[in-house]
Parts: sequence; C-alpha cells; structure tokens
Amino acid sequence: MIARLVRGCKDILPKVTPLWRKIEKEAFYFLSCWGLKEIRTPILEQEALFIRALGETTDVVEKQMFSLQKGDDRLVLRPEGTAAVVRAVCENGLLQTDPNPAYFYIGPMFRGERPQKGRLRQFHHIGVEIFSTSGVIADADPVILLWELTKYLGVSGAKVKINSLGCQEDRERYVFLLKKKLSVYKERLCPDCQRRLDKNVLRVLDCKNLQCREVVAQLDINYKTLLCESCFHHFEGVCRLLQENGVELQKDIYLVRGLDYYTGIVFELVHPNLGKGQDALAAGGRYDDLVEEISSGKWRSPAIGFAIGVERLILAMDSVDFELDDSRKVVVIWKQGFENEAYRILLTLRRNGIPSLMIMQDKSFKAQMRWANKLGARFVLIIGEDEAGKGVISVKDMDEGGQQQMDIESFTTLYNNVIKK
Ligand code: HAM
Repeated sequence: MIARLVRGCKDILPKVTPLWRKIEKEAFYFLSCWGLKEIRTPILEQEALFIRALGETTDVVEKQMFSLQKGDDRLVLRPEGTAAVVRAVCENGLLQTDPNPAYFYIGPMFRGERPQKGRLRQFHHIGVEIFSTSGVIADADPVILLWELTKYLGVSGAKVKINSLGCQEDRERYVFLLKKKLSVYKERLCPDCQRRLDKNVLRVLDCKNLQCREVVAQLDINYKTLLCESCFHHFEGVCRLLQENGVELQKDIYLVRGLDYYTGIVFELVHPNLGKGQDALAAGGRYDDLVEEISSGKWRSPAIGFAIGVERLILAMDSVDFELDDSRKVVVIWKQGFENEAYRILLTLRRNGIPSLMIMQDKSFKAQMRWANKLGARFVLIIGEDEAGKGVISVKDMDEGGQQQMDIESFTTLYNNVIKK
C-alpha cells in the first residue's frame, strides 16, 4: 500500500451503500412532503465565511477547519452547511425570488477532530435551513420535522433537549451573569475555558472537560432569571406545542451549542446508543442575525434549521437490516466463439431495463456457470451454436428449475411477469 485511508474518514463500501441510498431517498421524500427543496453548495468555501458565521473563538474555527491556500484565496473544506446555505441564498437573491425559501441538503462536512466512535473528520449532514419565518409554530415546526423524520428513518428512543438563548438583551444579561458566577471557579476551569471566560463565556457551557462540566453543573441558573417575560412565554409555548405533538422533550438550561450564530431556540436530538459526550445525532436552532451578518447588512431574515449527522443516525437506528435486491439478476453465459452474440443479448437486456451481467473475458462454460451460481442469478441465459442458428436463447430458471428456448422478446415478457408476481 503506498497510501492508506485518512484517519477519521470512512470508505462506504458496496455492502453499506444500499443503506445510505435508502436513507437519502427516504429523507428526500419526507423533506419534500414538508415543503422543502434541495440545495447543493460547493464543498470548498472561503475561510472568512465560517470565521464570521461560526465565531472566531469556537472550537470548529479555532481548532478544526481544514484550510488551504490557493493563490491569494484562503479556502476551507466546509465544516458545516448553514453558513454556506446562507451565503448561497443571499448571493442568489433567493429571499427576494423564492416565495418559500426553505431548503435541505445532504452531503459531506469536514472537521479536524480527534477521531473516535461517532466522531469523524469527514462525516455527512442531512441539513435543513428555513428562512423568513418566526414565531412559536415556526420554532416548533423544524423540531417536529426532525423528530418525525428520524422516527421515519428507523430511530426510536431518542429525546429532544431544548433551550432558549432569549433575545439580545437576555443574552447580554446571561453573559454578564455567567461571567460573574464562573469567575468564582476560574482556577478549576481548563486553560481554554479560562480564556473563554473573557472572550466568549457561553462556550464554557459547551466544554467537554470533566472538571468544567462539574463547575457548570453547580451554577444555579433558572429560566426566570435568564429570559425576559416575552421570551419565557415564547419558550413555554414552543415546548407545549412540541409536547402536544408527541415530541419527547427535556429542557436543558445549559445547552448553548458550540456555534456563535444561534439566537433564541436551540435544540439537540440525543440518543443513548451514542454514548456520553457525543450523544447528539442531530442539532440546530434559530439564527436570526446570520443573513444580515453574511450579506454585510444587505438582507435581513429570520432563519432556523438543524443538521442530522448521518453516521450517528446509523449508529442510533433500531435495525440496519437491509438486503441488496439481487433476486432479479440475469447472467448471460456463452459457449466458445459466441461471446459477441452473448454481448449483443446483454446490451438488449440492459436497454430493456433488465439487470444483467456476463463474464467479458475468456472463461470456460463451467467457470461461467460457477460464477452465475455464486452471484445467485435468478435466470441464466445460454448462447451457443444451436441458439445462434435459431435466433433464440436457452433460458435456465435457477429458482424453479428447467430450461427452455425462446427469443429475447419472449424472455423479456417472462422476466417481467415473474418479477412482478
Ligand atoms: P453541529 O451540532 O455542529 O451543528 O452538527 C450537527 C450534527 O452533526 C451533530 O449533532 C452530530 O450528529 C453531527 N456531527 C458533528 N460533528 C461530527 C463529527 N466530527 N463526526 C460525526 N458527526 C458529527 C451544525 O453543524 C449546524 N450547522 C446545524 C444547524 C443547521 N443549525 C442550524 N441549521
């Protein structure tokens, strides 16, 4: 081997691609029913986009971005999709032209994290970003969507953790309060958090360091002190609507999420299969200031969204039993000197939409038959001197037994009848 797979990346091999395709197909269907349209943005973006959107002092920006210099450009492999979608929406004027600016995307993201179970350097998001809506229903709707979509995809036993970061004034008051409370325990915080105390105190609440988590757990904060009356009622309204619609909910006052663009509601979908520290299989929240930030004040729009980590979704799924449907396979085998006729038949079958295979190099009849058996072929079509002379093929039904000669049109009809049965 001259090179090996990059640490923290995964090959998705043919045994598993049917599962991925199924998830993508079902997600596509479900999200379309929810009124969302697909958007695809490039994997490469300007580094500045994420520094501005996610925040300079977030872990993703400080430690995890894969950056590269190309000429004068500082580029990154996108670490997430929200900032990229906001850029695309603003740059293409979608807020002006699309009466329903609500989008989803499916694709790879890149973060230079220390790899472990459920934590990769290349992973995949199914993401949703909804613009131009605000209010209690607009906040609850994406959470209900996340809840129902993951159920539809085969996850049970998950739970939504939810919090509200309140309005601008609430956040300022919260930051002030947190600084005051956490300063008392400064010595017990990790070096990163000691720095964050001045620069971005909300990030201390996210820290995975055990001692920092213990400090945070001791803080005596409640919603009445954290949120103004209007934000408190709004948050209560959202939680009520979620519960009324069957979402299993846990309020978590310490949930702030590791990205700076959030305002108002934030949430995670957690699952016990994923283990401590990274039990979130999806996460999201409202980000009402990001459009203005990214468009340098040109546009303004409320927005909310979430992203599901597909690798974690698969770890949380009840069962990943899926079968590649091989039962319909047809194998064409040929006697010495009749490979060109066999190939013509193969092409006709494929053009007729019948999944079919043949060995395209010199192999004995016996070896071809062994291969067809190994593949579990449903039908084997044989072509030799006799068949070529009569303009037919010999059709061997591997399930029912028996062999008969027929022309290719009759086989196509037979195949369709058998498969549709
Ligand atoms: P995030 O929490 O950074 O949010 O990522 C969302 C989900 O992606 C996580 O809950 C997790 O399941 C998965 N994930 C994150 N990092 C990794 C990793 N290194 N390996 C495997 N899975 C991972 C966002 O990215 C926001 N853009 C979500 C959002 C959309 N907020 C509003 N709109």
